[in-house]
Formats: sequence, C-alpha cells, structure tokens
Amino acid sequence: MENKIERKEWMQNKTVLITGGTSGLGRACVDVFLDAGWNVATFGRRFNLISEIREVNRNKNIIAEVCDLRVSNHLDNVLEIFQKTFGRFDVVILNAGELGKTPLRNSSDLEPNDFRSVFETNFFGNLSLILKLLKKQGKGNTTYVHITSDAGSTPYPCWGPYGSSKAAMDFLFRIMQTEEEKLGNRFISFDPGDMNTEMHRLALPGDDPDRLKNPCDSARELLELIER
Ligand SMILES: NC(=O)c1ccc[n+]([C@@H]2O[C@H](COP(=O)([O-])OP(=O)(O)OC[C@H]3O[C@@H](n4cnc5c(N)ncnc54)[C@H](OP(=O)(O)O)[C@@H]3O)[C@@H](O)[C@H]2O)c1
Repeated sequence: MENKIERKEWMQNKTVLITGGTSGLGRACVDVFLDAGWNVATFGRRFNLISEIREVNRNKNIIAEVCDLRVSNHLDNVLEIFQKTFGRFDVVILNAGELGKTPLRNSSDLEPNDFRSVFETNFFGNLSLILKLLKKQGKGNTTYVHITSDAGSTPYPCWGPYGSSKAAMDFLFRIMQTEEEKLGNRFISFDPGDMNTEMHRLALPGDDPDRLKNPCDSARELLELIER
C-alpha cells in the first residue's frame, strides 16, 4: 500500500531516462536531475556501479538497472521495469558512448570491425532504444537528447569510428526532428564539451585535467537547457 502511494507521487514529477549512468557525464546527470526533483531511470553494464547508485540513492526516486544498450532483450527487460514504475519518459538522454580502440589511431590502421563495434553502441544501440520507445510510449511529448561531440563535426585525425558514429547519429536526429516534431517529439543534440571523465582520459591521456570541464557542470547546463 505504502509503495503504491509513493509511486503515485513519483508520477507527478517529470521523468528522465539517462543511458550510461554509471560514470562520467551520465552519473553526473543522475545526481543533478535527482537533486532537481526529477524521477530518474538509468542503466549501464557495470553491476558494481549500478549497486552503488542504488545504495547511495536508496530513498530517492530512482531505478537503476544493469543493461547493455547493444542487446535488444536487455532493453526490453529494463524498459518494462522502468515503465511499470514511471509510466513514460518526458526526456531520454542518450549518453552511453563507446570510444573504440585505444590508443586512437588513423582509420587506415583499423579494421571494419573496429568501426562496427563503435557504431553498435553509438548508433545502433541508440537507434534501437529510440524505436522501442516510440512504439511503447505512443507519439508525442518526449524530448530525446543525443550526447554528441565536436569530434562529430570537426574531422580530427584518429577519431574515425567515434567521430563518424556521432555525426551519423546527429544527422539521424535532424531527420527525426523533421519527421516527429508535428507529433510533439523533440530530437536535439547536446555537446557537453571536453570533460574530465574515463573516456576522455582514455582518448587523450596526456591532456591537462585543469583545462577539462567537471561533468557536473555539463549536466547542469543540460538540465537548464531542458527545463528552459
Ligand atoms: N568526456 C568528454 O570529453 C566528452 C566530450 C564530448 C562528448 N562526450 C560524450 O559523453 C558521453 C558520456 O561519456 P563520458 O565522457 O562520461 O565517458 P564515460 O565515463 O566513459 O561514460 C560512458 C558511459 O557509457 C556507458 N556505456 C558504454 N557502453 C555501453 C553499453 N553498451 N550499454 C550501456 N552503457 C554503456 C558506460 O557504462 P558501463 O561501462 O557501466 O556500461 C558509462 O556509464 C558519451 O556519449 C561521450 O561520447 C564526452
């Protein structure tokens, strides 16, 4: 009974799904959106980090699950769990991302499969989630946010798989915005800037951490953009 009352109250708040909430920007978004009173659903592959998120936020309006974005039946399972509690999502932040083989290298030193594995997460994983949500949620009133990168619009050497996967997703977002806006869905890309995260440390290990953004600042900028 108590559980039912709690769930009713949750439904009055806005609900966000944040993919890849276990570290970096995703984890920062989890904290920032929870603090702002949103209901939060999140997932990632690392069980220990999902357990930690559950533990730290045990009295908050959050559901955190283990899920690999690339695996269709993982997505089906978690979406069912999330939707039983929250109903529908107002905002979906496609944050989970894959950098590819490191150290980063020229495209000519890679195999097609090195590109495929990056696209599997950054393009097909995101696409699969969006298509499932569009079917499940019915049309309208959801904002989909693609976490993009300047590597998707500037041709930096050695960023072939990652940069082209971000560019492909950005372009699909522009197409879907034209298709869906009359139905009330919004598709926007958000570049969080260079942040001090696991991914950035792997990509550019020599980079000066002092010049990098704290991911919490990027998460706050994103919240502000969405709430505006
Ligand atoms: N750091 C930067 O400077 C920068 C700049 C521009 C854009 N970005 C973008 O920001 C986003 C977040 O990256 P970050 O910098 O915060 O790096 P990060 O700390 O490495 O975070 C990446 C997140 O993605 C999740 N993830 C990766 N593959 C997944 C999969 N198959 N299924 C589910 N979750 C998956 C990881 O969780 P698990 O490992 O637990 O699955 C992790 O939580 C990415 O899209 C990245 O491209 C970063």
